[in-house]
Amino acid sequence: MSKEIKTIGVLTSGGDAPGMNAAIRAVVREALHNKVKVMGIKRGYRGLLNEEIYEMRAKDVSGIIQAGGTILGTARCSEFRTEEGQARGAEICRKYGIDGIVVIGGDGSYRGAQALARNGINTIGVPGTIDLDIACTDYTIGFDTAVNTAMDAIDKVKDTSSSHERCSIIEVMGRHAGYIALWCGISTGAEDILLPEKYDYDEQKIVDHIINNRRIGKTHHMIVNAEGIGHSTSMAKRIEAATGVETRATILGYMQRGGSPTCTDRYYASIMGAYAADILVAGKSNRVVCYRDGKFTDLDIEEALAMQKNISDYEYQIAWNIR
Ligand code: ADP
Ligand code: F6P
Repeated sequence: MSKEIKTIGVLTSGGDAPGMNAAIRAVVREALHNKVKVMGIKRGYRGLLNEEIYEMRAKDVSGIIQAGGTILGTARCSEFRTEEGQARGAEICRKYGIDGIVVIGGDGSYRGAQALARNGINTIGVPGTIDLDIACTDYTIGFDTAVNTAMDAIDKVKDTSSSHERCSIIEVMGRHAGYIALWCGISTGAEDILLPEKYDYDEQKIVDHIINNRRIGKTHHMIVNAEGIGHSTSMAKRIEAATGVETRATILGYMQRGGSPTCTDRYYASIMGAYAADILVAGKSNRVVCYRDGKFTDLDIEEALAMQKNISDYEYQIAWNIR
């Protein structure tokens, strides 16, 4: 028989993502609806270790659903990677009467949640990252806003690139994952899409493609390049030298991680946050909330972390076929 859950905590960890506030709001309101007290933990695991903990009431999450970032703040905390740090984190939870924690973040944050569970604190992970690179779920909070922000920026660069008959390299976020680049590349009709998972570093192919497109009268050439490949500025210089076509690099950077979340992000974040509170209150632990095959569900963290996610070869091929 699992013990009764009277108080839960909520924290955000790793890179922030638009929609995290909607998830925090849903955790707080759903828990309160279930007559469970909620403690907000500031600045991720670092804030837990520093005891930056306060009670959250319904009004504390008023007016935040449309706000980007995270009202709790986020951080990376190396001390939490150590067994001593993890045991101390669990002790602090007990000191504040926290029976379980909802952790909103990516894979790394899930490992922290797993460690807390090993130390006797119930934990539930919620997928929050703009990168879409969490294998167990088809959806991660923030991705939709990030790709729409980047798409809008790329459309704008394309206008000026066409007017000046230039080539443009647009660097989008994704240090290890090319989902943002693939989605933005397809949705803006980019001529080339470079993903960390697929790139063969053959710049000559890009050069030939640009020269060929000029021959057939194209006025622009848009290359969407993922952060994981990077080096967009030096790539632009080399491409300009090899093609004779003026080439500029634009690095979109952190603008993709900010801004008001889209309706999709608010919706998924709200359901996932409330779902996490529900299963935590029901006594579940060491689970992650996911959206799979059209349904909200939960999986064991161990199982979730062991899963692999790859860019679909079929979708990647289509990107080339229709460019
Ligand atoms: P994300 O959650 O977005 O993947 P990180 O990988 O930076 O981001 O992880 C966020 C935080 O989670 C780290 O700063 C650390 O405090 C904690 N964390 C990451 N990996 C581990 C681990 N193996 N064990 C315990 N805590 C971890
Ligand atoms: O949040 C995901 C992400 O934006 C990745 O695409 C990127 O690699 C990373 O975060 C960069 O985060 P930071 O600069 O905050 O370490």
